[in-house]
Amino acid sequence: MLPKASTSMHALPPAHQLEVLIDAESIARRVRELSAQISADYRGRPVRLIGILKGAWVFMADLIRHLDLEVSVDFLSFTSYGDGAQSSGTVKITKDLDQSIAGLDVLIVEDILDTGQTFEYLRGVLEAHKPRSLKVVTLLDKPSRRVRPVKADYVGFTVPDVFVVGYGLDYAQQYRHLSDVRILRLPL
Ligand code: IMP
Ligand code: MG
Repeated sequence: MLPKASTSMHALPPAHQLEVLIDAESIARRVRELSAQISADYRGRPVRLIGILKGAWVFMADLIRHLDLEVSVDFLSFTSYGDGAQSSGTVKITKDLDQSIAGLDVLIVEDILDTGQTFEYLRGVLEAHKPRSLKVVTLLDKPSRRVRPVKADYVGFTVPDVFVVGYGLDYAQQYRHLSDVRILRLPL
C-alpha cells in the first residue's frame, strides 16, 4: 500500500511569491565549477555516483553532464523527513542500490546537508558495502543546523538557516521543479 498523497492544512504560496536565494544562472555556474573540480580529482578513475532521491536528482542530472570522467550512476532512497520540514527521526530505505559498490570510487550526490543525521546514517550504510573510496558532493550546506559531525567533500553553496525549495528540493513534495533555489518562510 502506498502512502496517501500529502495534504496540507495550509495552501502553499505560489512559487513566484518566494524570495530567490540562489538564481538559476549562479547554480549553473557553480555546478560547472564542481564538475571541473571533481573531474580533476578523479582523473583517470571511473566513479560511481549515487544520487539520494528525490532531492538530489535535478542537481545530479546537471552535474554529470559536465563530468569529464567514466561515470556510472545508481540511486538510493530513504525516508528521513516526513512531508514537512521536521525530521521524523526514523530512517527507512525505500529503494536500495541496484549494483554492488564494493571496491569502487563512490561519490554520493546530496541536495542539502542540514542536521547531518541523514548523511551520517547513509555513510554508515554505504561504508558497510566496502567501496574503495567514499566522498560526498552536496549542492547546499547549512552548517549552522548541524547536530552530527559530518562534512561534505564538495559544497555548492553554504546557506543560512532558512528552509529552501526548488532545483530538486521540496516542501510537502512541492516546488521541486523550480530552476532557482527559493526561501519558504516557515511556519506557513
Ligand atoms: P538532515 O538529516 O537534517 O541533514 O536532513 C537532510 C535532508 O533533509 C535533505 O536531504 C533534505 O531532503 C531535507 N532538508 C533539510 N533541509 C531542507 C531544506 O531547507 N529544504 C528542503 N529539504 C531540506
Ligand atoms: Mg534528501
